Amino acid sequence: MKVIRTTNHQEMSKIAANIILDRIKSSSHITLGLATGGTPIQTYAYLAEDYLENQTSYQHVVTFNLDEYIGLPKDDPNSYHYYMHQHLFSKVNIPRDQTFIPNGLTEDLAAECETYEQKIQQYNGIDLQLLGLGKNGHIGFNEPGTPFDQHTHIVSLTRSTIQANARFFGTVEEVPKQAITMGIGSIMESKEILLLVSGKEKNQALNKLLHGRIDEQFPASILNNHENVTIIADEDAIMNTD
Ligand code: F6R
Repeated sequence: MKVIRTTNHQEMSKIAANIILDRIKSSSHITLGLATGGTPIQTYAYLAEDYLENQTSYQHVVTFNLDEYIGLPKDDPNSYHYYMHQHLFSKVNIPRDQTFIPNGLTEDLAAECETYEQKIQQYNGIDLQLLGLGKNGHIGFNEPGTPFDQHTHIVSLTRSTIQANARFFGTVEEVPKQAITMGIGSIMESKEILLLVSGKEKNQALNKLLHGRIDEQFPASILNNHENVTIIADEDAIMNTD
């Protein structure tokens, strides 16, 4: 894994945005895997800023989001549909029918998982997958113990993840207890992975990722087996991990 160390969150986000823009500009067709959460917000803001300044086109870009809560309507401010619209899709010229996010409201969740995975294959898989890191090592919503070969599936969120995400909701009780997530198998099939890690609360997790053993109890550890991963970590996240 290549590690880029940055002085702060802004620099991490700028480098991430520049890598994404480079891949978008240098390909005639590209499929991006996208993450939500706090970590990539500034990266998306830089992409939006670039669009205003340079009109980098997204007409040839297809996106698949990692995950979505089960039970939240698309227009709920805490849904990842809303998040993506707010932070990126409404800010660039990406055709809406080229953006895919799991549907957490469908009655047949198992069929949704299968169709989502098939759709990723129809677009020849993910070229560049953006990831954040959970404090317990989760990637997507793949919690500790998730089999490494699993594809898109339904998960019950752990207490730690529910508590971490409660900051976006009014109370812990309002955080949905389940989500649909691309699996670790889906993520590992991406051709390139960009993992963003920011803040001291991620320091321990990053240390474990860099120096621990590969273990299903720490999902991100499998990234050590992928041949094209770049970690961009800010100083707070990476300090004392040498
Ligand atoms: C979000 C996702 C999650 C987050 C992780 C870190 O789509 O898949 O794995 O990347 O929970 O979240 P933040 O960035 O809020 O610390």
